[in-house]
Amino acid sequence: MKFFIDTANLDQIKEAQALGILDGVTTNPSLMAKEGIKGEENVTQHYINICEIVDGDVSAEVISTDFDGMVKEGEALAKLHPQIVVKIPMIKDGVKALKYFSDKGIKTNCTLVFSAGQALLAAKAGATYVSPFIGRLDDISTDGLNLIAEIRNIYDNYGFETQILAASVRHTMHVIDCAKIGADVMTGPLSSIEGLLKHPLTDIGLEKFLADHKKNQ
Ligand code: E4P
Repeated sequence: MKFFIDTANLDQIKEAQALGILDGVTTNPSLMAKEGIKGEENVTQHYINICEIVDGDVSAEVISTDFDGMVKEGEALAKLHPQIVVKIPMIKDGVKALKYFSDKGIKTNCTLVFSAGQALLAAKAGATYVSPFIGRLDDISTDGLNLIAEIRNIYDNYGFETQILAASVRHTMHVIDCAKIGADVMTGPLSSIEGLLKHPLTDIGLEKFLADHKKNQ
């Protein structure tokens, strides 16, 4: 399972990269705004900065919602750095743009996916990644993890190569449950990754080992 971090915060990206387990980064316009990154020049430079920190794929989202606009923006984003993955919303023109980029060998991440039908379309259009937003489904009393399981089933039935990127991951149990179901990738905050290493018995055990070692000195 690949681990992506879902942020545009360079310090958090560096921290996750330093752990040695980071496979990529996802961003979106809200995450960029949260970091105060405004204006085309700053935005493009920020994507380049992120690519220089991590070794893996970095999703950069288009703002246009029409086919021509998405193609123009996506092509410009893809030229910024070989690690850039063009993030395209699941709308009608978005499906056309996914197919266009797939035919050109440009990697894509189909975002804002909330149903198995949308995920099926994204795979048919040749998306590299599909991003079902599990946390936002949970927020409206709908089982986000069940969507991951449905997509896994559909993709396995037909051997679709589109990778399931569990997005809108909010906590560590989401990460574990996505791994059990077989999501290819998860993207979440640094806290969802760091939560994986915590166990009170590890802390108690280490404290005892160190105390016993001291006694023997
Ligand atoms: C995915 O690529 C999105 O950036 C993200 O996971 C959305 O998460 P949120 O629902 O916590 O905003």
